[in-house]
Amino acid sequence: MDRKEFLSVMGMSAASAVVISCLGCAKNSGSGSSPSTTGPTGIDFTLDLTASANSALLKNGGYLSSNGVLVAKTSAGAYIAVQLSCTHQNYPLVYQASASHFYCNNHGSAFTETGTVLNSPARNNLTTYKTTLTRHIIKSLRIN
Ligand code: FES
Repeated sequence: MDRKEFLSVMGMSAASAVVISCLGCAKNSGSGSSPSTTGPTGIDFTLDLTASANSALLKNGGYLSSNGVLVAKTSAGAYIAVQLSCTHQNYPLVYQASASHFYCNNHGSAFTETGTVLNSPARNNLTTYKTTLTRHIIKSLRIN
């Protein structure tokens, strides 16, 4: 094998490695969402606001997670609930009452209080849950 042949073979190998590597990157690059980023199903749970573990929900802007769901009390005092995991790559979301949105600290996606994507890289809306408050008990049910 002369030098020209050697370089030609090596160039082909390197090109093949790049293609394989990029196929892997595309699959895991985070540019899209995967089906596993939807919220949990079969959600039907209650939170007792008299329990100290749920005290975050007593003040406007507070939030907590339970059963894969993020439950928050808005600045206006309403209880809202969305899937805990970001639709981009499953990173746990936080609630930012001052901006009235859910935020992902991993890559910066944000979602409205009704779960709609505000900014990428997430492209899919959050699963939202119906919440009802009866006396001191919050009940969450999946609605989409
Ligand atoms: S995991 Fe990437 S924006 Fe949330």
